[in-house]
Amino acid sequence: GELFVLSSMIVLLQVAHGCPDKCRCHPSTHFVDCSQQGLAEIPSDLPAQTRTLYLQDNQIRQLPAFAFRSVPWLMTLNLSNNSLSNLAPQAFNGLQRLQVLNLTQNSLLSLESRLFHSLPQLRELDLSSNNISHLPTSLAGPWENLTVFAVQHNQLQQLDGALLESMPSVRLLLLKGNLWKCNCHLLSLKLWLEKFIYKGGITDGVICRSPDTWKGKDLLTIPHELYQPCPPSAPDLGSSQTQQPSSAHGAAPRPHENHSLGERDLSECEFKPKPRPANLRHAVATVIITGVVCGVLCLMMLVAAIYGCTYAAITAQYHRGRLAQTNEPGKAEGKELFGSAPA
Ligand SMILES: *[C@@H]1O[C@H](CO)[C@@H](O)[C@H](O)[C@H]1NC(C)=O
Ligand SMILES: *[C@@H]1O[C@H](CO)[C@@H](O)[C@H](O)[C@H]1NC(C)=O
Ligand SMILES: *[C@@H]1O[C@H](CO)[C@@H](O)[C@H](O)[C@H]1NC(C)=O
Ligand SMILES: *[C@@H]1O[C@H](CO)[C@@H](O)[C@H](O)[C@H]1NC(C)=O
Ligand SMILES: *[C@@H]1O[C@H](CO)[C@@H](O)[C@H](O)[C@H]1NC(C)=O
Ligand SMILES: *[C@@H]1O[C@H](CO)[C@@H](O)[C@H](O)[C@H]1NC(C)=O
Repeated sequence: GELFVLSSMIVLLQVAHGCPDKCRCHPSTHFVDCSQQGLAEIPSDLPAQTRTLYLQDNQIRQLPAFAFRSVPWLMTLNLSNNSLSNLAPQAFNGLQRLQVLNLTQNSLLSLESRLFHSLPQLRELDLSSNNISHLPTSLAGPWENLTVFAVQHNQLQQLDGALLESMPSVRLLLLKGNLWKCNCHLLSLKLWLEKFIYKGGITDGVICRSPDTWKGKDLLTIPHELYQPCPPSAPDLGSSQTQQPSSAHGAAPRPHENHSLGERDLSECEFKPKPRPANLRHAVATVIITGVVCGVLCLMMLVAAIYGCTYAAITAQYHRGRLAQTNEPGKAEGKELFGSAPA
């Protein structure tokens, strides 16, 4: 009896500590390293206690829903340098404790907000070096614990400030190497970044790729005044309408990519360098007019003051003269009055 219990316990322990063929397991640290093994999918028999899982440098093409359901304690997941192009919306469901997710060097084309909702504890999300051209406009609720968000070297043209608003704790934001289109739609990003940097956040810069006027310029160095408000336009309506269908079908091609309408509306609201001189001229004219008016007013006040003083002096002299006259008639009148008048 006891022997049986003992042997079954040993078997159980072995199962618990079992390690997939192509991985190296470190039971004491709950670290499983399956990197560089030519894997095409997630190994099925991962130890349930795994906290750190390395799957980088493999050929994993997709993640099914609940791909990591066998490792609910996972805190760090490295999927860098695989061939992921499509993530099922529920791929990361069940990873309630995941803190670091590394998806760099894959072929992801877009992401949707549902993907994020299943990762409440996430602190670092690295999506750099993918082909992402679209991020959700916003998340339904705040993503409280996210402190690092990296989307360097993707195909992003726009990023809505509202998405960043839903990351209240973010401290490091990496955005370089995208196709930023510096028109009115990027203004919310600019405003958000200014606040972010003021509060001590760190970012690596949004370098405009288009329009030609701003190519190579950092979004933050383009003055506010150059921005024309976005017309309440079709692209906005379009994207909010297409969001739901696209998230329902995973990475369905977005109708947004039909540019015939979008391009025109976007070009209408690009930062315009022309209005600047006009505004500047207005400002300069205002300053000059104000200056002239002020100057004239000051001059008039000065004249009035001088006049007032002189008048007062003359009146005083006159009164004194009158007094003197009553005391010594005929003597001092003319002399004193003319002597003190120039003052
Ligand atoms: C990506 O993984 C492949 C193996 O799948 C490897 O040969 C290549 O060196 C890795 N690339 C980088 C940049 O690490
Ligand atoms: C894998 O990802 C983790 C978390 O992002 C990171 O700390 C680690 O350096 C990566 N490992 C390699 C070998 O790239
Ligand atoms: C993700 O992995 C890449 C390559 O291994 C590494 O350079 C990068 O620092 C990692 N990102 C994070 C947030 O750890
Ligand atoms: C953020 O992290 C803290 C501490 O780990 C945790 O208590 C909190 O529930 C997390 N927030 C969310 C939305 O899960
Ligand atoms: C992703 O982008 C790279 C370089 O920008 C390109 O070579 C590759 O074909 C793209 N892949 C997909 C699936 O679009
Ligand atoms: C874009 O959509 C319009 C209809 O809204 C259609 O007539 C046109 O052919 C589409 N263009 C492309 C490039 O798909």
